[in-house]
Amino acid sequence: METEHNAWWKEAVVYQIYPRSFMDGNGDGIGDLKGIIGKLDYLRWLGVDVIWLCPIYKSPNDDMGYDISDYRAIMDEFGTMDDFEQMLVGIHERGMKLVMDLVVNHTSDEHEWFVQSRASRDNPYRDYYIWRDRPNNWASFFGGSAWELDGRTGQYYLHLFSRKQPDLNWENPKVRSEIYDMMRWWLDKGVDGFRMDVINCISKVPGLPDAPGEGGLAWGGAFFLNGPRVHEYLKEMHTEVLSRYDVMTVGETLSVTPEQALEYVGFDRAELNMVFQFEMMDIDAGPGGKWDLKSWKLSEFKRIFSRWQTALAGSGWNSLYLNNHDQPRLVSRFGNDGRYRIESAKMLATLLHTLQGTPFVYQGEEIGMTNVHFDSIDQYRDIETINWYNEQVAKGERSVDEIVKSIHAKGRDNSRTPMQWSSAHNAGFSDGLPWLQVNENYREINVEQQLADPDSVLHYYRRLIQLRKRHPVMVYGNYDLLYPADEKIYAFVRELGNAALLTVLNFTDEQQVFLCPEHLCPKGFELVLSNYEVGDANLPTRLSLRPYEARVFIASPASGRVDV
Ligand code: GLC
Ligand code: CA
Repeated sequence: METEHNAWWKEAVVYQIYPRSFMDGNGDGIGDLKGIIGKLDYLRWLGVDVIWLCPIYKSPNDDMGYDISDYRAIMDEFGTMDDFEQMLVGIHERGMKLVMDLVVNHTSDEHEWFVQSRASRDNPYRDYYIWRDRPNNWASFFGGSAWELDGRTGQYYLHLFSRKQPDLNWENPKVRSEIYDMMRWWLDKGVDGFRMDVINCISKVPGLPDAPGEGGLAWGGAFFLNGPRVHEYLKEMHTEVLSRYDVMTVGETLSVTPEQALEYVGFDRAELNMVFQFEMMDIDAGPGGKWDLKSWKLSEFKRIFSRWQTALAGSGWNSLYLNNHDQPRLVSRFGNDGRYRIESAKMLATLLHTLQGTPFVYQGEEIGMTNVHFDSIDQYRDIETINWYNEQVAKGERSVDEIVKSIHAKGRDNSRTPMQWSSAHNAGFSDGLPWLQVNENYREINVEQQLADPDSVLHYYRRLIQLRKRHPVMVYGNYDLLYPADEKIYAFVRELGNAALLTVLNFTDEQQVFLCPEHLCPKGFELVLSNYEVGDANLPTRLSLRPYEARVFIASPASGRVDV
């Protein structure tokens, strides 16, 4: 059972790879395992400890690998099982670990289980999925009804995501034991844990009642999020699988509160190590959901992070992220991707790496990659974006300009454009035609150029990661927010024993002044990191901050300016 003690996964920095867009090793325009193998030295240099790999299993790619047709085989475009083994060895040889994506709320409709299940009502696999004579009114996450009529047997199957992603029936013990077998199979190969896709959707309320709403489709979340048996299933998974290995687990849990999160990650729960919370991802969403754009306030942003920091302190552990393969780029969303791109990318990194929890870096974040603004819907590849566009155009309630504006702000392809390795053709990602167009700004924003520039965003990430390894207060210290109502500055203190850390961040494009609270001044804080040149390493009582300036101070017997 987890305790509140030190653990490798608390001290780790995780790097998320979206394999399709990371590096193409054979020139077909699609990233692959060989491509990843060629970049392991880069990841080692950066200092990351764990790689989380988005799905690489066999898949028809209706939802880019989140629709799995064989859990024990590698997607053709990504390579072979030999490539996988070679990659895993390469990761371990460099002292890093590998966490796989576990997608078990649903499979692909091309998975053998579903092929069997749909064949006849009395097929032994029928109960692996959820079949009904009549659909309820639940809407799918990807538009339209969550039910699809299957002509052959005249029944409907449930799919919370696309119609090519039928939901597995977790109430069937055979399904669960197949999944646990499969997990052990990968762990026995040597993988070091799992990121669990939409794991709080696996238990549905029996009877699958209609969701409240006036006719038409409605949001059925209340009947499948944190459902009645979800903790029973996760505890069983822990007993049957996780407890037998030294692994890291992080669950993707849509719309959980910190109190609900503790039921998944509490040290005494024997379920998961961490969850990804979505409260922050909803900060700029209006009542109509993610596409309904709304501005956000720093006080609210601080309130959300602080609530999670405080609620989990001592009883659970946070994951820390501001973007991933489903979300826009953090610098475009929470920083300034124009004039202050470099400063604000570093400032946001400083925040994530000095909070309590395990930081997750999404590929390209470490060089400050930005959102993409494609001109035409034909340039997009994401099923969620394309479905929403078509649905909105058909409805005719929003102008095309408005629709495009939402897609530019929130579309998932923002973060899926190919990794920008160099200023060469296709950003050095591929010699072929990339499956998704490269962001045009690759000539200014790329790894090669940033490796050569000690002031780059990339070098800053490396310094932050090293700093975290040197100062336990950055990992384990408690958290105390300063000036909660301030709309311009985010400042907080962390403490561990007699060590203290102070982070001060300017979230605006103007000069701001931070007044050091009196109780902090005598601690003897010294600067350990900043995204600007700073002459004086001491903490003044009146600290003037330039646009998006970040400063990290540490007071401890072992402190001192860090030159890395
Ligand atoms: C998760 C994944 C997302 C996928 C969905 C369905 O949210 O991160 O990419 O589309 O689950 O599997
Ligand atoms: Ca390839």
